[in-house]
Amino acid sequence: MRVLAIETSCDETAVALYDSEQGLLAHQLHSQIALHAVYGGVVPELASRDHVRKLLPLIEACLHEAGTNHEQVDGVAYTAGPGLIGALLVGAAVARSYAFARGIPALGVHHLEGHLLAPMLEAEPPEYPFVALLVSGGHTLLAQVAGLGEYQILGSTLDDAAGEAFDKTAKVLGLPYPGGPALAKLAEQGSPGRFQFPRPMLDRPGLDFSFSGLKTAVVVTLRQLQANATLDDQTRADVACAFQHAVVETLVAKCGRALDQTGARTLVVAGGVGANRSLRAQLLALGNRRGVVVRYPRPEFCTDNAAMIAYAGCQRLLLGQHDDLKIRATARWPMDNLRAPQATTTHS
Ligand code: KG4
Ligand code: ZN
Repeated sequence: MRVLAIETSCDETAVALYDSEQGLLAHQLHSQIALHAVYGGVVPELASRDHVRKLLPLIEACLHEAGTNHEQVDGVAYTAGPGLIGALLVGAAVARSYAFARGIPALGVHHLEGHLLAPMLEAEPPEYPFVALLVSGGHTLLAQVAGLGEYQILGSTLDDAAGEAFDKTAKVLGLPYPGGPALAKLAEQGSPGRFQFPRPMLDRPGLDFSFSGLKTAVVVTLRQLQANATLDDQTRADVACAFQHAVVETLVAKCGRALDQTGARTLVVAGGVGANRSLRAQLLALGNRRGVVVRYPRPEFCTDNAAMIAYAGCQRLLLGQHDDLKIRATARWPMDNLRAPQATTTHS
């Protein structure tokens, strides 16, 4: 089965073509970073309008890259949520209309299911069951994954997501949008140990996270440094390094706990913050210490992309799951509502 996938949940317009026999055939992505950078964050209406402009040419480019044509597409998968509602609606409307025009099935996919299954696109995919750490701009959670659609949430953030904490802290450090990668880059020039920030919720049992206090600790430190006129470039880098260290150490410790709790032998890391080099290195070290297999998507499939939606959608479409003719877009869609596919059901 050959599945065309569309992802427009936030500020990336992405299209991919996945074949159940041959794997990923092509993927295209247009990032709106330049469009939103002047505003310091994503402007939802501008995001929707840019998806309208870019989506159809990207579909053509994707089919061209794969050396195939519309007649060879057997099904359509699209991100139906969670995300920005206007942005989601663009992808959903195009996907649903495309499928209707061609008389092929369409399926709305959960964005986080896409992230969770993104490592399945790699040469050595993880084997079920595994523990997954999903760290993105909108979500931070640990889940036990027993199979497609069989997700048990072990813990999640009580306030900011890890990526959100990176982005907000980057902003107070005066770094350009998008903050996460910029902060990570700056942290590489910092010396660890000069500043110490709290490891949120590590002293408490359980697998929940909280990152807003950490950001506040950075703000307080920066204010003091500014008041003392000691906030030079190296100091900024040292603060970034200490912040990243605190986030990474917290995420690694919680992953260790989740592995203890579940007895899982495989750990999967997904979502935008999964592209962070320090996090990847520290989680690999954790895996080595414990004899646990650690699997990541390649960095470009950690952040938003359509390849992950194509993979997840294809697995469900193959099992006969598809939607009715409705255009599905859901800004908030709790992951606990997801179910393993049963033959010829609609999603969720
Ligand atoms: O998964 P994603 O592309 O979008 C959401 O679904 O949220 O994640 C984007 C998030 C942003 O907060 C971004 O700053 C963060 O991932 N991010 C990073 C890095 N690359 C992306 N955070 C830390 N280090 C990075 N290298
Ligand atoms: Zn995402």
